[in-house]
Amino acid sequence: ESAEASQRGRLTFRPITLNTRDEVTVPEGYASGVVIRWGDPLQSWGPEFRFGEQSPERQAQQFGYNCDFVGLFLLPGGAASGSRGLLAVNHEYTNPELMFPGYREGDPEAWQVAVELEAHGVTIVEVLQRGRGQWHYLPGSSYNRRITGTTRCELTGPAAGSDWMKTSTDSTGTVVYGTLNNCAGGKTPWGTLLTCEENFHQYFGNLSALSSTDPRYTVHQRYGIPSGASERRWERFDRRFDVSKEPNEPFRFGWVVEIDPYDPTFVPKKRTALGRFKHEAATVVIARDGRAVVYSGDDERFEYIYKFVSEGRYNPRDRRANFSLLDSGTLYVARFNADGTGEWLPLVHGQGPLTEANGFRSQADVLVNTRRAADLLGATKMDRPEDIETNPVNGRVYIVCTNNARRKWNQIDPANPRGDNRHGHIIELIENGDAAATRFRWEIFLLCGDPANPDDGVFAAGFDPSLISPISCPDNITFDAWGNMWIATDGQPGTFRRNDGIYAVPTSGNERGFVRMFLSGPRGCEICGPEFAPDFHTLFCAIQHPGEGGTLSAPLSSWPDGTVPRPSVIVVWKDRGDPRIGS
Ligand code: FEO
Ligand code: CA
Ligand code: CA
Ligand code: CA
Repeated sequence: ESAEASQRGRLTFRPITLNTRDEVTVPEGYASGVVIRWGDPLQSWGPEFRFGEQSPERQAQQFGYNCDFVGLFLLPGGAASGSRGLLAVNHEYTNPELMFPGYREGDPEAWQVAVELEAHGVTIVEVLQRGRGQWHYLPGSSYNRRITGTTRCELTGPAAGSDWMKTSTDSTGTVVYGTLNNCAGGKTPWGTLLTCEENFHQYFGNLSALSSTDPRYTVHQRYGIPSGASERRWERFDRRFDVSKEPNEPFRFGWVVEIDPYDPTFVPKKRTALGRFKHEAATVVIARDGRAVVYSGDDERFEYIYKFVSEGRYNPRDRRANFSLLDSGTLYVARFNADGTGEWLPLVHGQGPLTEANGFRSQADVLVNTRRAADLLGATKMDRPEDIETNPVNGRVYIVCTNNARRKWNQIDPANPRGDNRHGHIIELIENGDAAATRFRWEIFLLCGDPANPDDGVFAAGFDPSLISPISCPDNITFDAWGNMWIATDGQPGTFRRNDGIYAVPTSGNERGFVRMFLSGPRGCEICGPEFAPDFHTLFCAIQHPGEGGTLSAPLSSWPDGTVPRPSVIVVWKDRGDPRIGS
C-alpha cells in the first residue's frame, strides 16, 4: 500500500460518544436524513400511513417494518453516476406492541396477524439524490415492489421437490407463499439481491403434535420450533404455521432467497443448494476460476459458518446466464484449528459421515438438516455468526460473532476465546486470494467491549485499546474504498445501557484496529445494513426497531417524527470539505 493510498484512506472524523438520546447523532461536519419510514406508500396515490388504521391491503403497498439489510442497485440514466438507484431493504420482523394500539400480547386479532405478514419480507424502491446530501424515494416508480410473508416464491436446487417440501396445498414441493425473517443479505455481481431467512422458527407452533420418532420432529427440534404455542400465535389464524396441521411447512423456510430487483415480475427463488439454517447474510465473491462463492453464517449460539462454491462459472457478458449459478455447487462448513489454520469441510451426501447410516439418503436430506450434517463433520461452534464480508482492498474475509453469554470458560477455543462473551468479536480470514480455497489462515481482529473495563479483555488488532471507542455486539459490516471497516451494532442497550451505533476501523496501516464511533441511533434501535453509495459520498443504514423495550403507553422512543417510533432507512453525508465519508 502506497503512502498516498493510506493517507487518502485515513479516517479524520472526530469520534462521537455513546449516548441515550432519542435521535441520530453523527460527527461534526456530517448530516443525516430519513429516506423512507415504516408505512410510507410505494405508489403515487398512496396508501397513506395512518397509525392505528393499518390493513393488510394497505401494508402490502407500504414500506414494511424492522428494516435490516440495505442494498443499493444502480440504475442507468441518473443525473450523475450513483445518483439514481433501487434500494432493496429487508423487513426482518414485527413489533406488534408498537404497531397496534391496544395489542394484546399472546392474543392477537386475525387482522393484526395479516398486517404483520405483509410488513415482513422485502421492499424494492427507487431512490434518487438531487445534488449533495439527502436521498429521496420515488413513490409510483414502476420498480417499486413489496415482497411479503404471502408473496409466491419458488424453491429451486437439490432440495426442491423433495418429500420434505410437500404440503397439503403443494404436492410439487416447489411453491411457497412468503419469505420471513429476512435479516441481512447480499448483492450478486450479476445484479440480484440475496435476502436471508433467519429466525424462521418463531412463526411456527405445536411441534409436540409430531411423534418424537418422526424424523421431522428431530429436525424441527434442532432448529428450535416450539413444542407448544408460538409467541406470535400466528398458527391460530393460518394453518401452515401449525406443525400439527402442516408438519413440512417449516422446511420451506430458512433459505437464501434470490430476487432480481430490476424485474418487478420476478418470482423470488429460495436457493436450497446454499443450505438451510438461520442465515444472517450472504456475501458473494467470484473465485479465481470464475466460480461464485457465497459466505453465510448461522446466527445462533454455538452454530456454524458456511460457504457455498458454485459448480458453474460467472458469465460477466450474459446476466441471465448467472440466474441458475446458485442451484448447483458444494456447501462447506468451517473448522478453525488452534494453530491459526482452518478448513472448509464439504457437506456432500455420501462423503464422510453423511451417509444413510446417519440418516442422510440424499443431498436434499443434507441441505434440509444442514446443522446436523455440520455437527457430524466436527465444524467449529461459533459465538453467533452474524455478517461475513470481504474487504475489497486486502481480499480478506471478516466474520462477525455478535456475542454468546452462554459460552462457559471451559468451552472456549482459539476462534471463540472468551467465556461469557457479552460483547462479541470479529475474525479475519485469509484465503490467499482464492475464495474457492478449502484451507485458510485466520486471526482475531477485534475482541469488543469497554476498554476502560479490564475484565472485558478488549483487543483491537494490536492497537492501543485505551484509545478506542467502547464497542459491543457487532452485527453488520461494510467496507469503504480504502478498506476501512464500518461496523453496525445490535445490543449496546443491553450491555452498555447506551444506544447502538456505527463505528469505523482501519484494517491496515499504523491505525489498524483504531475503532472510532461514527453514529449513534435513537433509543431502543439496532443499526443494520450499512451500505455506501459507489462514490462513498453517502452512507445508507437502517434504524431497526426504534423504541423496542418500550410500549405505546410507556414509549421509549418517538423517532423519527416525534410521534410513534417508525423503523426507517436513513442516509448520512458530509456537509463540508471532501465529500467522501470518513475523509
Ligand atoms: Fe437478524 Fe442475526 O440478526
Ligand atoms: Ca434484528
Ligand atoms: Ca443481524
Ligand atoms: Ca443481531
